[in-house]
This record gives sequence, structure tokens and C-alpha cells, in this order.
Amino acid sequence: MIELQSLGKTFYKDKSNLEVVSNISLAFRAHSFTALIGPSGCGKSTLLNMIAGLYQPSSGDILYNGKQILGANTDVGYMTQKDNLLPWRTILDNVALPLEIAGVPKKQRHEQARSILQQVDLSGFENKYSSELSGGMRKRACLARMLLYKPKILLLDEPFAALDAQLRIAMHELLLRLWEEYKQTIILVTHDLIEAVSLADRVIVFSPRPASVAFQKEVDLARPRDVLQVRFTKEFQNIHNTIWDYLQQQYAADRLTYAK
Ligand SMILES: Nc1ncnc2c1ncn2[C@@H]1O[C@H](COP(=O)(O)OP(=O)(O)OP(=O)(O)O)[C@@H](O)[C@H]1O
Ligand SMILES: [Mg+2]
Repeated sequence: MIELQSLGKTFYKDKSNLEVVSNISLAFRAHSFTALIGPSGCGKSTLLNMIAGLYQPSSGDILYNGKQILGANTDVGYMTQKDNLLPWRTILDNVALPLEIAGVPKKQRHEQARSILQQVDLSGFENKYSSELSGGMRKRACLARMLLYKPKILLLDEPFAALDAQLRIAMHELLLRLWEEYKQTIILVTHDLIEAVSLADRVIVFSPRPASVAFQKEVDLARPRDVLQVRFTKEFQNIHNTIWDYLQQQYAADRLTYAK
């Protein structure tokens, strides 16, 4: 469904170049769930911005269903790393925004927005403004807004980073349930390896900047998965430890570089 061909991105700023993404070739099948991990600042958010069609690649191509994308891809629901709720709208009207743009009448869009807000545990906050919510609550409102739009592709940039452990598990369960139902293609950026292995079909590890594919591991754990229990299985631990061993090697090599 999505194909990255020798993708590269270099920013030009103050007469100097910063290469952020280097020669990435990857394919994402329809209804696949891929987790991306990599050191902070390596280029993960930049890669998502290119897949969403918000940044143009400096080299290589992105194909969507075999065609090159020019401009923003409207099949994409993008939950960016920074929340981008509109401060002058209530949470209900923020979440209902995609339906408003699609021309859904107010009563219906509010009903649907209320129902999805309940699923992300934000009932009672419909009439608040984003400045009155905590960071984790704002993230959940963004998740609700994106899910209401029912996009074919979900790009999720550290969506659960600000949540406590219980709420994070609840959001994992919600995401997997909606994914089984609506069969989206999901690309999730996370720094949490347990989250990556619990949810995804495949984990891709990027190198330090410029991001290139350093390591890949299929996660062939049975579905549907019990996100609370799967981490205690032997199969999970084997996969987790294989990736962890790689990350340790990468860390040791980086430490040597920093020490120089
Ligand atoms: N619009 C931009 N213009 C110039 N440089 C940028 C721009 N966006 C990102 N960068 C630079 O590109 C590099 C990669 O940034 P990016 O946000 O993609 O990293 P990341 O892997 O998502 O990091 P993190 O895990 O901390 O979110 C950084 O050095 C950043 O300063
Ligand atoms: Mg980022």
C-alpha cells in the first residue's frame, strides 16, 4: 500500500545541510501494523511527515497504491508528536472537526464525538478547552479526533508517551480493537519496545541520524492479542530480547563514539 524507495531528506538551513533520512526503502502492506523505533533526533517524525505528504523528499520516491503522492495524502490520519488541538474550540468541537469538514450535521457529529470521547475515557470533558486538560488528556483527544475521521492509514508519533501505565494499556486495547474492525494500515513511532512488540507485526529499528534501516524483526505473535498478558509469554520474550540485544550493541557503539 505504501512503498518508500531509496527515500532521503536533507534540510538546508543557514547555508548548511542536515541529512536526516538516508536511503530508506520499505514497503507497508494494507492492514499491516509496523512499529518504528530509533534514537531521539534520528529522523522518525521527519519520515512520517514525508509519508503524510507534508514534507517533500529530497531524494527517492513514496508510492501510495502504486502512485506517487503529490501534496498531502487525505487517506492519512496523522497524530503528530505535538498535540495540535485548536485552543478556541471545545474538546467536543475539536474531536468533531473532521466530521464538520465532511459536512455532517451538528447533532450527528456531536453524538459520534461523544461516543469516541467515552472510549478514550474523556467523558465529562466535552465542554472544556485544551488548556484545561493535562498532556495525556490532550493526546487522547487527538487520538479520538483521528479515529473519528476513519482514515485508511494511521501515522502515530509517540501517541501514548504521556500516559500512565493503566491508561496506556487501555489505549493499546482500544487501538487493536479498532484496527481489527476498520483494518487500517498503522505506522507507530515509539520509544517503548514492549509497546512495539505487543502491538505490531514488525518492528523496524533506525540508525542514529540520518535515519536508515538498521534492524528489522517480524513479530509473529498470534492475534487477537491480550496486551496485558502477551508480554509474559516465552514467544514475546524471545522477540523482545532479540531486538533488545541489537539495541544494546547500538548503544555500546554510540557510547564509544561519544567518548571519542
Ligand atoms: N523543519 C525542519 N527544519 C530543519 N531541521 C529539522 C526540521 N525538522 C526536523 N529537523 C531536524 O531533523 C532531525 C530529526 O528530527 P525528527 O523530529 O525527525 O527526529 P525524531 O527521530 O522524531 O526524534 P524524537 O524521537 O526526539 O522525536 C533533528 O536534528 C531536527 O532538528
Ligand atoms: Mg519525533
